[in-house]
Amino acid sequence: MISPERLRLHPFFGDLTPDQLNALAMLADTVAYPKDTVIFQVGAPAKTIYLLEKGCVELYYESFDPVFKPELRRQYLIGEVNPGEVFGVSALIEPYKFTSVAATATPCQMVEIDAEKLRALSDNFPELMCVLSKQIIHTLMERLHYTRIQLAAERAP
Ligand code: SIN
Repeated sequence: MISPERLRLHPFFGDLTPDQLNALAMLADTVAYPKDTVIFQVGAPAKTIYLLEKGCVELYYESFDPVFKPELRRQYLIGEVNPGEVFGVSALIEPYKFTSVAATATPCQMVEIDAEKLRALSDNFPELMCVLSKQIIHTLMERLHYTRIQLAAERAP
């Protein structure tokens, strides 16, 4: 468990009520990782959502064709997560599987929230998922914006 205040400080959780924050804080723990640690892989069951407090996490898209080119597995850097940002949002979106690789680019400290228990909390707090969904959409729009910038740069003459 962590202090609910630690969550309230961040915009992702800023709209939650004190009761919702308390319930969420009971599912959360602080974890430190050294540089170059893989936090999750593409396709892995998404059971945890992460709030980065210190350091930098990189997100990679993995291209892999197990049928025609099983020997070619490549990773492309597609984004960066900075302190105060949430990642691993697939833990709150069906089918609950991660869509990228996440790895620490520096030593990192993050809050990890048990997403399976969080999803179950919505029985007691029906509005919780609605409030969090708005923040998830916001996070995904930021990812899309960053992807568009990269695509535009790639296509520039
Ligand atoms: C994922 O959750 O599938 C990847 C990481 C993220 O976009 O937050």
